[in-house]
Amino acid sequence: MRIKLNHNVEQLEMSGIRLFTAQASAYENVIKLTIGEPKFTTPEPIKEALKKSLDNNRTFYPSFAGSETLKKEIIAYEKRVNGVEYAMDEVLITQGATGAIFTALGSILNPEDEVILFQPTYIAYQPAIEFYKGVPVFVDTTPNQFQLNYDDIKKNITPKTKAIIVNSPNNPTGVIYSEESLNVIKRILDEHDLFVISDDVYAQLVYKEATFLNQDIRYKDKTILTQSLSKPYAMTGWRIGYLCAHKDIIKSAQKIQQYATAGVPLFVQDAAEVALNTNVDEMTAFYKQNRDDVVSILRSNNIPFIYPEGAFYIFIDISTKGLDSWKFSTQFLDEYKVAVIPGVIFSPKSDYFIRVSLAASNHDCKEGVRRLVLFLYGEK
Ligand SMILES: Cc1ncc(COP(=O)(O)O)c(C=O)c1O
Repeated sequence: MRIKLNHNVEQLEMSGIRLFTAQASAYENVIKLTIGEPKFTTPEPIKEALKKSLDNNRTFYPSFAGSETLKKEIIAYEKRVNGVEYAMDEVLITQGATGAIFTALGSILNPEDEVILFQPTYIAYQPAIEFYKGVPVFVDTTPNQFQLNYDDIKKNITPKTKAIIVNSPNNPTGVIYSEESLNVIKRILDEHDLFVISDDVYAQLVYKEATFLNQDIRYKDKTILTQSLSKPYAMTGWRIGYLCAHKDIIKSAQKIQQYATAGVPLFVQDAAEVALNTNVDEMTAFYKQNRDDVVSILRSNNIPFIYPEGAFYIFIDISTKGLDSWKFSTQFLDEYKVAVIPGVIFSPKSDYFIRVSLAASNHDCKEGVRRLVLFLYGEK
């Protein structure tokens, strides 16, 4: 029997990252530098808060918008860290940033609306846009050292452009957008009636002073902030994040959430209140050490890479080997038992890069990159 499926969903592709990670799982004793997942377990006080919440029987249906107390905690956090004041109806608790991005796009996109994405790009934006029958429009940032260029964006804006997605620190490059890049976006917002989705999931994982788009309150009504507790607090499996935006967008996003998932478990939300008050300096220092150690190995072996200033990835140029990034990664896995992500997954123009996750143990990061040096220089 032919199973007749929704064509729109059928055409969505599986995440290349998950596919490659699954390929790596077939091997034993592999150093996994693939997925962007902290090696840490969730800090104890956060777990304790969840247990206490369960003991208090916070096991009933949550409100679709999110718990009042967590929303207040988020509002306090955003004011303290980013200097922006949100009202209660400008915040929605979501299932990770994934839920925030998906409901935000659903709230603003009509079929054929265009969304500008900067390549190389995080892989989940395009399928979400296409799910809503929107059209992703790609702007390559490679010639501009992965920063943003006014003319490159401007020439891609049409009457159908609805939004731009900005992700800084960036996955996969680790680049933080400079003041000039942020000004480019602000100039575009001054000239066009668009939204900017600021996907700031790595905002706490920065290794230098950084400013973010959502901190400029002049653009508050046009900015849609998507945030996550996954990366800074080692809570990837908890599935909690949030969306801050104009109240009409939040209202609409809440409707999608209501019918798709009916919200986030209350005991997870209770624990998230504790997470937002947890100091993550130690974990950030750990990733920075991984960054520094890996950079030092690459530099001393003259291997080109993009210097990461935030997040926990490093984008390494493997062009000297003369293989495309998928073949390179497959062969590297096969011969040296190290799993990395082929750059082509993030953009066809990144087919001479690999993304190495620095969220693994310090030993694995260093050993993985030492083996990379051997592979690049043709030794076994
Ligand atoms: C740039 C970016 N945005 C969003 C997400 C999704 O995060 P969450 O776990 O909160 O759904 C990720 C996860 O890797 C990411 O790298």
